[in-house]
Amino acid sequence: MNETIKFSDDISYDLSEILFKYNTDKIFVLVDENTFIHCHPLIKTAFAKEPYVIQIPAGEKSKDIETVTFLWKFLTTHNADRKSVLINLGGGMITDLGGFVASTYKRGIDFINIPTTVLAMVDAAIGGKNGINLENYKNHIGTFNQPAALISSTEFLKTLPQKQILSGFAEVIKHSLLSNEKTWNNIKNINPEKINFEQLNLILKESSKIKQNIVNDDPKETGIREALNFGHTVGHAIETFFNNKNIEILHGEAIAIGLIAELFISNKKFIFPFEKLFEITEYLATYFPSYKIDYNDYDELYNIMKHDKKNKNNKIIFTLLKNIGEVEINQTCSKEIFFEALNFYYQIKK
Ligand code: GLY
Repeated sequence: MNETIKFSDDISYDLSEILFKYNTDKIFVLVDENTFIHCHPLIKTAFAKEPYVIQIPAGEKSKDIETVTFLWKFLTTHNADRKSVLINLGGGMITDLGGFVASTYKRGIDFINIPTTVLAMVDAAIGGKNGINLENYKNHIGTFNQPAALISSTEFLKTLPQKQILSGFAEVIKHSLLSNEKTWNNIKNINPEKINFEQLNLILKESSKIKQNIVNDDPKETGIREALNFGHTVGHAIETFFNNKNIEILHGEAIAIGLIAELFISNKKFIFPFEKLFEITEYLATYFPSYKIDYNDYDELYNIMKHDKKNKNNKIIFTLLKNIGEVEINQTCSKEIFFEALNFYYQIKK
């Protein structure tokens, strides 16, 4: 099923319209402590009958089998049946986890994603990848299953910390580079620290559409959906590297470094144009925080990439670009070029 994304000016009204079609009095809303405070009040009037609100702790730690079991039991105790609906109100953790619980409870009930972060609006909540972590293996267990509906609203972003908005912007930049020059040219004139909500609304709509189109062409990632992994082979390694050291790095901050490194690799392997390499990496280095990565860290980062779940036949796999909008999936890269890419990051970071 191709999902459609509703960009809403009146989230309560639009949600009530969707719920009206369901013949059930059992609606469940999954929130964390942040979305319970900041986002739940915005949908409160959508329900004809009070829904069951299930609150779990915020943070990646909740994306585990213990929380899944807690949620399966909650649904069971409250007699959820196959007509019941689960609304996932939150960032990527909530939509990934809630989508997984809904997909597996009694072989699957409908779920509605209401993403409340930029990252979830343009990425996590779209495309039907649902899942949880198995110890340190991220998104190791999961399903492909599309939400019955997806409603986005920038209203939720008004209480989101600026650095979370910026983090999501890394995926917006990635989508523009996968798309075409016009889309990138729009982005490059925007200062993400000063963006207003009207501008943000337009950008999020366009960015979501880019992802949605790719997913519609390849819902189960057997080919072109791998384009979405651009920046993520190096980016995930950077994220894991700093997480292992208990240094907080947001997903988008790591992806921004991954984009810089993989643009460099794209230039080495496919002569991605120099002037665009410098233009894009200068933009990323200006707005995203820099992280210290030393020459002594390079081997550790390389070893982390050796365990990437995108690897095939023991080879580290990258998505690269020949040019903006010209994607090359299933690419490899020598250790030397990878090290050069990290040197490049070292030189351009501010
Ligand atoms: N976040 C990449 C994908 O959904 O395929």
